Amino acid sequence: MAASESGEVAAPYGGATAAATAPGGAPKRVRTRHFLQAKRDGHPIVGLTSYDFLSAQIFDRAGIDFLLVGDSAGNTVFGYDSTLPVTVDELIPLTRAVARAAKRALVVADLPFGSYETNPREAVHTAIRFMKETGAHAVKLEGGERSAEQIRHIVEAGIPVMAHIGFTPQSEHGLGGHVIQGRGEAGAEQLLRDARAVEAAGAFAVVLEMVPSAAAKAVTEALSIPTISVGAGPDCDGQLLVWTDWAGFTTGRIPRFVKQYAQIGQALEAAAIAFREDVESGAYPAPEHEYE
Ligand code: KIV
Repeated sequence: MAASESGEVAAPYGGATAAATAPGGAPKRVRTRHFLQAKRDGHPIVGLTSYDFLSAQIFDRAGIDFLLVGDSAGNTVFGYDSTLPVTVDELIPLTRAVARAAKRALVVADLPFGSYETNPREAVHTAIRFMKETGAHAVKLEGGERSAEQIRHIVEAGIPVMAHIGFTPQSEHGLGGHVIQGRGEAGAEQLLRDARAVEAAGAFAVVLEMVPSAAAKAVTEALSIPTISVGAGPDCDGQLLVWTDWAGFTTGRIPRFVKQYAQIGQALEAAAIAFREDVESGAYPAPEHEYE
């Protein structure tokens, strides 16, 4: 996605936006408006999750357009068996680290389960915490029609919202497990109603997770905001993957929609074994690792 053309001027009061401005004055930071522009231009949007400074630096350098500090950190960082237990206080330091690393990518903070559902006031309060305490540029929350009021209030507070419909992991028990959503006529109609509700509420993009490609295509054609696929096929406006799945770091079963681009889990294990063996045999440290 190109983030160069816009009428963006120097940041008032200086600060980070100034640092993210290229010599010619062109902004290097991906903004929410670039998402809309990408959809209009037919240019795919690329996202990965990230939970720490070093991975965020690498993904940012690689030109990934947005980094989602997902509540999937509940599984990948904290080792819970679902996203339900992870808290705002656990996600805030991770989001802060990612935001500190990202010079170009738009950073999206995921609102965890229990931090926005009760009422719009609670949702705005949580979104403000993430924006104020982390340096993220947008928030994400789950739910279509049921979360539209929350989205509207957060957007009215000046905070961009990425919506998330289809399979929503925070509702896995309500949905009866990891079940594909948007199947059949009724499922596809509900998906479209959810998509229209979040667009009308002011979301700048919507994640479609684990839905049939045909239903995702229909939603993508019906909306003016971009759709981001997580297992929703090739016809969405962008693609997002959980980085630990994508890089072969996650242990256990990987969803069918994930393509693995590396096997860093195996590489790390091999390195750890080699290190242990070197220490045990006395091969490490060698003279070149010693100080005089
Ligand atoms: O938490 C997460 O990583 C997510 C994506 C899978 C959409 O919500």
